[in-house]
Amino acid sequence: MSLYRKSFLKLLDFTPEEIGFLLDLSADLKAKKKAGIPHRLCEGKNIALIFEKTSTRTRCAFEVAAADLGMHPVYLDPKGSQIGKKESIADTARVLGRMFDGIEYRGFGQEVVEKLAAEAGVPVWNGLTNEFHPTQILADFLTIREIFGSLTGKKLVYMGDARYNMGNSLMVGCAKMGMHFVACAPKAYHPAPALIETCREIARGTGAILEFSENPEEAVENAHVIYTDVWVSMGEPDGVWKERIEALSPYRVTTALLDRAGADCRFMHCLPAFHDLETEIGREVYEKFGLDCMEVTHEVIESPRSVVFDEAENRMHTIKAVMAATLSETL
Ligand code: CP
Ligand code: NVA
Repeated sequence: MSLYRKSFLKLLDFTPEEIGFLLDLSADLKAKKKAGIPHRLCEGKNIALIFEKTSTRTRCAFEVAAADLGMHPVYLDPKGSQIGKKESIADTARVLGRMFDGIEYRGFGQEVVEKLAAEAGVPVWNGLTNEFHPTQILADFLTIREIFGSLTGKKLVYMGDARYNMGNSLMVGCAKMGMHFVACAPKAYHPAPALIETCREIARGTGAILEFSENPEEAVENAHVIYTDVWVSMGEPDGVWKERIEALSPYRVTTALLDRAGADCRFMHCLPAFHDLETEIGREVYEKFGLDCMEVTHEVIESPRSVVFDEAENRMHTIKAVMAATLSETL
């Protein structure tokens, strides 16, 4: 199997075997990093990191992974380039493709990263769009494999706005890897019917189970993982806070919900998370709506069943595997 010169835009483009290959490679590179064994598989290459939205984990993961692989990263921040304002994506792609061996893109519509990949002539990696966040899913699945030994048949319940990048990508990933996925939210927050149909078709081949629920207590029974994400994503207008708080508060992940799932259930979140009043937005929401946490309680984030920081670490190992697999001819 080779992913050499392939872009990593969404999990729908990859077979279960290819996703498994990337997870195996991530585990191998993680072990090498922990043992202090050099793995400069992309020595001398240069990569561009385009961020039209802000980031902590994804940017740092790409930069650290690039350094470990022997590459030089160039960061283009949300304001500091011509992209979109003075230069089209197609022209930007053709310019960067002449200088760089690979390009990461975080931004808005999925069609932008697809266009970039079509024009650049070098591998493009999706660092988050409105629709998908595929490198996050690799990190989450590596974490689940480390805890439970395998992915097949594991039950992952996603609580909250399942129509956006995290809900969509987890549903696709679970379908591909033969898992049991449940989206739990009011019906209006379930993934788009067309994507559900695509995933049902995939599930017919992999044995995955896909379910859609509006009842948190029922949904989490026997769950291996309860997953949530912010109620308002980057780029969405402030005006949606009120509606989201009203609709999604019953889906907050609490200790009672984790207890209902069982003692072995783990809590996951891509982060950043609103679980206390230590953030500007958290304080604004508290002043306006009186909530001291949103999608998850502080108690859950801090509990031994929370593996959110393991996921965050695994962003680096999995992003490293994606870059190595697509840039190194020998893998
Ligand atoms: N989980 C994630 O993508 O985090 P950042 O927004 O900090 O990159
Ligand atoms: N849904 C979130 C994910 C952040 C990693 C967002 O798009 O802001």
